Amino acid sequence: MAPFVSSEYALVFLSVLFSLAMHVAHGNNDAPPLFIFGDSTFDVGTNNVLRSGARANFPYNGIDFYHSLPTGRFSNGFNTADQIARLLGYQQSPPPFLTKKNEFNSKNKILKGVNFASGGSGILPETGSAAWGEVVFFEKQVKQFALVRASLNGLLGYKADSFVSKSLFLISVGSNDLFDFASNHSGSIRLNAEQYLGLVQVTYYSHLKKLYDLGARKFGIISVAPIGCCPAITSGNGGQCVKALNDFAVAFHSATQVLLQKLSSELDGFRYSLADSFVMTTILLNISSSFGLKETKAACCGSGYLNGQGGCIKAQNASLCNNREEFLFWDWFHPTEKVSELAAKTIFEGGNDFVSPINFSQLASSY
Ligand SMILES: *[C@@H]1O[C@H](CO)[C@@H](O)[C@H](O)[C@H]1NC(C)=O
Ligand SMILES: *[C@@H]1O[C@H](CO)[C@@H](O)[C@H](O)[C@H]1NC(C)=O
Ligand SMILES: *[C@@H]1O[C@H](CO)[C@@H](O)[C@H](O)[C@H]1NC(C)=O
Ligand SMILES: *[C@@H]1O[C@H](CO)[C@@H](O)[C@H](O)[C@H]1NC(C)=O
Repeated sequence: MAPFVSSEYALVFLSVLFSLAMHVAHGNNDAPPLFIFGDSTFDVGTNNVLRSGARANFPYNGIDFYHSLPTGRFSNGFNTADQIARLLGYQQSPPPFLTKKNEFNSKNKILKGVNFASGGSGILPETGSAAWGEVVFFEKQVKQFALVRASLNGLLGYKADSFVSKSLFLISVGSNDLFDFASNHSGSIRLNAEQYLGLVQVTYYSHLKKLYDLGARKFGIISVAPIGCCPAITSGNGGQCVKALNDFAVAFHSATQVLLQKLSSELDGFRYSLADSFVMTTILLNISSSFGLKETKAACCGSGYLNGQGGCIKAQNASLCNNREEFLFWDWFHPTEKVSELAAKTIFEGGNDFVSPINFSQLASSY
């Protein structure tokens, strides 16, 4: 009898501790629910269950995460989705839809939000598949949100509308569309750069409109970084950035700005904040030492020239740096945890040079 009582007591005690921990982690009760879309910059494990080459659920990824766990994040620790969630008062990003989808009928799993982002994916449905195999493209992510929206209706009834309208819809996508254009994998791209960008934007428009129709009102959007400077690209270009890719990223940002202005003039209550990750990253590159960064060309983890010729795969003898705080790039495409933290802070509370017309913290607290 005695052991039974005491183990029951221990269980109660543990669950009290656990709920205290949860309370601390989610200390900000006003934090809006987060629905997160996009590519590997936001992926927290979606691709773990896919037949995809764009995966990160193995070491050395996650080396600075809790228990050095490789979760599928393309980072040594938290990624940018986590960092934004942390600034809002959460401990990390909400869990991925795909790997947790069987749990999403229970209330506590869904009411903080869901992450749909998938590494390698883009705005166009075909983006990423030639390079990475199976990915969840943006239209499919929006369809997954529609399923979540239906469960919310079931859970919350008439309150579901206001729940969704106060939620933050965070989106980081576009890089892979631009990479795919540049590599023209199967020789099937007949459009010129301007026409292609037009197609990408028309498609982006229809997906954002669909989210609006499902009740989304607050859109926090991150545009494309100077992708011509990531080690995967510079390692094939004598260590230099590829200007054409960077120009494409700038054009993508301008076109996205126009698109969002159009959506907000057409749709009642549509609010947005657009983060210019091109400018943020360029400044980091220009004055890296004032942020304590010493290495802005080579990746911390990878293989070959600049660690940019292969992914961060311990089983394939990837090399790993020790001073991760001093690197801009974690792997051949992605920033370190430290740089994603700097980026998230800028996106959250920065001025109009970086994020406009309002910053994410203003977006979160707007009505
Ligand atoms: C893609 O490759 C095909 C076949 O080589 C070529 O005809 C086409 O012009 C290329 N497209 C672009 C945008 O470079
Ligand atoms: C970064 O430096 C380059 C070259 O010195 C300069 O042309 C560019 O304007 C700078 N960019 C930013 C965002 O400071
Ligand atoms: C990694 O290194 C070990 C020891 O040098 C070697 O036996 C193995 O073949 C290497 N594996 C790969 C994938 O290069
Ligand atoms: C951005 O966010 C901070 C914190 O909420 C706010 O005080 C500030 O005014 C904003 N910055 C700009 C330039 O809008």
